[in-house]
Amino acid sequence: MSFERNIKIAPSILSADFADFGREIRAIEDQGADWVHVDVMDGHFVPNLTFGPPAVAAFRRHVKTVMDVHLMIAPVDPYIQAFADAGADFITAHLEAGPHIHRTLQAIRAAGAKAGLALNPGTPVEAAAPLLDMVDLVCLMTVNPGFGGQKFIHCQVDQCKRLREMIGDRPIHIEIDGGVDPETAPLVAAAGADVLVAGSAVFRGGSVDAPEIYGRNIEAIRAAAEGAL
Ligand code: DX5
Ligand code: ZN
Repeated sequence: MSFERNIKIAPSILSADFADFGREIRAIEDQGADWVHVDVMDGHFVPNLTFGPPAVAAFRRHVKTVMDVHLMIAPVDPYIQAFADAGADFITAHLEAGPHIHRTLQAIRAAGAKAGLALNPGTPVEAAAPLLDMVDLVCLMTVNPGFGGQKFIHCQVDQCKRLREMIGDRPIHIEIDGGVDPETAPLVAAAGADVLVAGSAVFRGGSVDAPEIYGRNIEAIRAAAEGAL
């Protein structure tokens, strides 16, 4: 996987039909998804529960692009190897999930995955400065993590600009997660983000029987983002 800063759309399967993940994943990839975003929640770090390593391993069999696993769990370290073995390309952990994010990022790379660092809206992006040589991706949350379908938090756009300046020439993706749609995508694309996670704005109105709606939704977000560059 070579590094590119072009716009990538990463549908979050949190908004998919939970009884039909295989077909949902194939549908979004056929319809132009660049990455597949998998939201792992533990009912402790965030007030919602989703899926663990065996489910993620089952998703992997359907993912042909890039499997981007967002861990909203605490502690993180005991589960890193299991998510790497499940086939995650990127494993993203929250800075707020524990006292030893540096160790966590080391462990992710040691397990053979690309390392992502997620920051909640209440965390200054400057907190990522000492970690930039250890990460392949920084995920800026534009909602408080836990649920799909929440409202985009606008003050994160300025944080995104500051993060983009901090990153400079390093091959680090900036991912935006939460409330991304054709209205908000241009704001974060102009601020330097390249990976746009979108759950409700991709799955809205479509289904595995009407996948072309997923395609239209993905292209609307992509066109809006690219139009801002
Ligand atoms: C939120 C998750 C997001 C979520 C995005 O905790 O990390 O990935 O699924 O959903 P939308 O795009 O609906 O805000
Ligand atoms: Zn996410």
